[in-house]
Amino acid sequence: MQARKRVLIVYYSLSGNTERVAKDLAAHLDADLQRLHERTDRRGFRGHLRAAYDSLSERPAILIHSARQAADYELTIVGTPIWTGKITPAARTYLESIRGRARNIAFFTTSGNTGIDKVVPTMQRLVDLESIASIGFSESELRDAACYENKLTAFLAAVRPVAARTQGGVARAYA
Ligand SMILES: Cc1cc2nc3c(=O)[nH]c(=O)nc-3n(C[C@H](O)[C@H](O)[C@H](O)COP(=O)(O)O)c2cc1C
Repeated sequence: MQARKRVLIVYYSLSGNTERVAKDLAAHLDADLQRLHERTDRRGFRGHLRAAYDSLSERPAILIHSARQAADYELTIVGTPIWTGKITPAARTYLESIRGRARNIAFFTTSGNTGIDKVVPTMQRLVDLESIASIGFSESELRDAACYENKLTAFLAAVRPVAARTQGGVARAYA
């Protein structure tokens, strides 16, 4: 039997903050990385206005990508910016799409200052799975190198034991 892959990181990012965290996590965990793209254009003033309306009204997004299968991975980590105190439409649609498929799930967010605790219940409900870890980064924390490293390290420590599992139950060491 082929061993299950270990970690998939799926994220949506409009202006790059969430992408930065996703890439850093992927480098530390040697994970596969997938950026979500949606049909709606969110750029510019009108795009931001639509983003605010769509997130607030919990509208799903139409995703344009060939999704990697969460079921193929021991751990799926989903990252999203927070818009109007909610997750993005793209993250909402993705989480719903993997309901019942992900084995283990963890979340991260970036935001101006809204904490991840505000959106974790929604994220768990959408995917119908309790997260093994979650971490939110405010914009000021993203600018503070020491704070960023500390929070990243804490999150990595929480997910590594699960990420190291393989189908055969053999743990894999990380550098
Ligand atoms: C439409 C819109 C709504 C936002 N709403 C919030 C919010 O409710 N709370 C907050 O702390 N930040 C909010 N932000 C700021 C973003 O969450 C923050 O800049 C985030 O890091 C952007 O991630 P990205 O660079 O990956 O797109 C909002 C940004 C946009 C564009």
